[in-house]
Amino acid sequence: MSKKRSANPSETEESLRRQLDEITRLAGGLAHEVNNPLSTIRMNMGLLAEDLEKIPESVPQKRALRKVATVQQETKRLERLLKNFLHLTRPQHLELTKADINEEIRNILRFFKPEADEKHIEISECLTPNLPLVRLNSDAFHQAVINLLRNAIQAMKEDGGKLIVQTRDLGVKVAIDVIDNGCGISPKTIERIFDPYYSTKKDGSGLGLPIVNQIIIAHGGGIAISSEVGFGTQFTITLPVPTQIPEMPPPSVVILPKD
Ligand SMILES: Nc1ncnc2c1ncn2[C@@H]1O[C@H](COP(=O)(O)OP(=O)(O)O)[C@@H](O)[C@H]1O
Ligand SMILES: [Mg+2]
Repeated sequence: MSKKRSANPSETEESLRRQLDEITRLAGGLAHEVNNPLSTIRMNMGLLAEDLEKIPESVPQKRALRKVATVQQETKRLERLLKNFLHLTRPQHLELTKADINEEIRNILRFFKPEADEKHIEISECLTPNLPLVRLNSDAFHQAVINLLRNAIQAMKEDGGKLIVQTRDLGVKVAIDVIDNGCGISPKTIERIFDPYYSTKKDGSGLGLPIVNQIIIAHGGGIAISSEVGFGTQFTITLPVPTQIPEMPPPSVVILPKD
């Protein structure tokens, strides 16, 4: 008996994509609904802790305070999780403005320096001068690069490491490389690296790279990874350089003689 042929592949893909969009929309809605009562729980736990602190100290009072602190901590963790989830499920409509990528990188590294110093990480800035301007949402781009820098730091040993951040002119694109000499990533891990919630860390959220990916897609860009276990990793973000639209000459106006 012959198997029934499936519908036209592009139709199937389109229908799957629509179903996925719908599931994402519903999940986003649910996350939003859960977020509100969670804030109420966290606020009330704060008030309860204040009340408990007012009553005379005793073993049961201290035990109750500890339990309240645990609930507060867990609600905060859930709120963070939901915030990241909403970030992932919401379609990104970022407002992009023309920006100098080197200037952005300098600002990001200035912000990140204390964190790197604390972990004994040496950062080298290799910025190609006179890069063409790109269209950017500065806040989102900042978040994406910080995520890459944090991952790089977390991949390094306790006694520090080296990080290179460089920019390159690729003509129709600019590239931003974040290169570390950390533990590297195995090919098996690379396959799953952009899957939401995939993490090899004990307390990792697994949402860093999916968020980076979303942000870069919203810029019309791309991400590439090359890594060698035991040596380090290079993440490369590419952003398109907007093509110059030639200015149209003003339309000529013909004044017709009155009859
Ligand atoms: N620079 C890096 N070096 C080594 N492994 C990395 C690097 N960046 C990402 N990874 C791997 O990718 C996984 C997913 O990263 P991410 O989405 O940021 O989540 P998280 O940092 O919470 O684990 C990490 O758990 C880690 O295994
Ligand atoms: Mg991360």
